[in-house]
Amino acid sequence: LQEVQVKEINAVLLTKGMSDNWESIWNFQAKPNDLLIASYPKSALSGTTWTQEIVDMIQNDGDVRKCQRAYTYVRQPHLEWKPWLLSTPGLEEAEKMPSPRTMKTHLPVQLLPPSFWKENTKIIYVARNAKDVAVSYYHLSRAMSVLPRPGTLDEFIDKFMNGRVLWGSWYDHVKGWWNKKDKHPILYLFYEDMKENPKQEIQKILKFLEKDLSEEIINKIIYHTSFDIMKQNPMAGYDTIHINIIDHSISSFMRKGITGDWKNHFTVSQSEKFDEHYKKKMAGTTLTFRSEI
Ligand code: A3P
Repeated sequence: LQEVQVKEINAVLLTKGMSDNWESIWNFQAKPNDLLIASYPKSALSGTTWTQEIVDMIQNDGDVRKCQRAYTYVRQPHLEWKPWLLSTPGLEEAEKMPSPRTMKTHLPVQLLPPSFWKENTKIIYVARNAKDVAVSYYHLSRAMSVLPRPGTLDEFIDKFMNGRVLWGSWYDHVKGWWNKKDKHPILYLFYEDMKENPKQEIQKILKFLEKDLSEEIINKIIYHTSFDIMKQNPMAGYDTIHINIIDHSISSFMRKGITGDWKNHFTVSQSEKFDEHYKKKMAGTTLTFRSEI
């Protein structure tokens, strides 16, 4: 491994030595007909959550029973370092999986195994506005003992702004993937759009996957992937999976599922400080977010 890469990995993982299985991740062999769903944490990708659920339903032509049968411990293998999902070494699962495979990752773009670029594998990236991600990440960190302790919300916001959280800087993550999207088949989606107009976003996914589904099936997918329905489904939010590592009395994966919850958490001064820093970090990019809806 090049020294610079080790440095980057350690910065993203926060802890030295967690990158033990890094070589095998870096050398992972993607295939042209794989699909990768990528996001920064808490943007409605990970877990068995939203985007995965939508893609799963699309791939099963809206047949919920088939999707539920497909619920396994690692339905869509997570290309990550082992410590994240503890006993779910996504790599081994991914290698065993029949094609076409759907996998997910929180890897920042510069650490994605090169075979994905070489094989021109399709990637769906989901981004969510920074303040809502920070709030969601804070609550998950409180409830999930494998994550670094968040401290107070004020302390956590500070760590988030400085990229001192697991998976590193949100700013670099969303910008890095954004910059890659015109050079590679990447469908870049926004949580806020999915909330506002799920049909339109599902249609984008269908087009990207070169699939055609009837209006009736699309409506069924919208219904089954709505927050309320997914929250009722014990298999859809890590609630059953992470029973021992997430304290549900504190928070859960399917927490609120809304846009703008940051307003219930950030003080005016926290928000101003965040905005000022945000402007500097996001200067010069064409990537914009809606955090006011
Ligand atoms: P909140 O903590 O704000 O509620 P991830 O899956 O990447 O960990 O992201 C989790 C966030 O996505 C949580 O946000 C969760 O509630 C939200 N989410 C999951 N499924 C959702 C859905 N069907 N509709 C809206 N939000 C959803």
